[in-house]
Amino acid sequence: MSSSKYLKSRDLKIIRAWINRVKRKNEKPKKSHKKQARKRVKKQLRYKEVGCGKKRLVLDLGKRSVLKIAISVNGIKDIEREVEMYRKAPNKLKRNLAKVRESGKGWLVMKKMKRKVAKTKRTKVKARRLRKRFERSGISAGDLFSKKSKRVRWANIRRGRKRKIVVIDYGNFKFKR
Ligand SMILES: Nc1ncnc2c1ncn2[C@@H]1O[C@H](COP(=O)(O)OP(=O)(O)O)[C@@H](O)[C@H]1O
Ligand SMILES: [Mg+2]
Repeated sequence: MSSSKYLKSRDLKIIRAWINRVKRKNEKPKKSHKKQARKRVKKQLRYKEVGCGKKRLVLDLGKRSVLKIAISVNGIKDIEREVEMYRKAPNKLKRNLAKVRESGKGWLVMKKMKRKVAKTKRTKVKARRLRKRFERSGISAGDLFSKKSKRVRWANIRRGRKRKIVVIDYGNFKFKR
């Protein structure tokens, strides 16, 4: 994509250069991905950081949107999956996925979700129910729970309207077949 509703052409250039670097330098140890991303792409783009996971750096585009940028090759894959999942998920489940507004190679613009969920038993039950709903639609809801399925990955969910759980990190969700 060469033009964007949310990003300046300068931003797109910086991101493109960064993603090319990510592809080249992927052999580096994991820890340095974050450091490098902050030192380079974040500094150049000059947006505030909202958060950072193992694979993606998330920057503040203002009131309504955030910019997610891959910081490793796996991050590029996660961005692609997230974009595709949002596009293909059934409408009734789309309401539980933070909206992807725009995307390109290694980046996407997502609706900003500010409100955290209460870390309670009740939310956990809700999250479990949500995972089942995804399962029934043939989607395995990857990063919603930790590997042993015991703990909710709180960093990956937010509170939407009517206390609905909204997943903000679904780069790991997959269509089963
Ligand atoms: N849509 C969003 N609204 C607000 N904060 C977000 C949003 N998406 C991500 N974040 C913040 O950025 C962090 C990292 O994003 P995430 O997509 O989970 O990256 P990773 O795939 O590396 O785990 C999240 O834990 C959260 O704090
Ligand atoms: Mg995450």
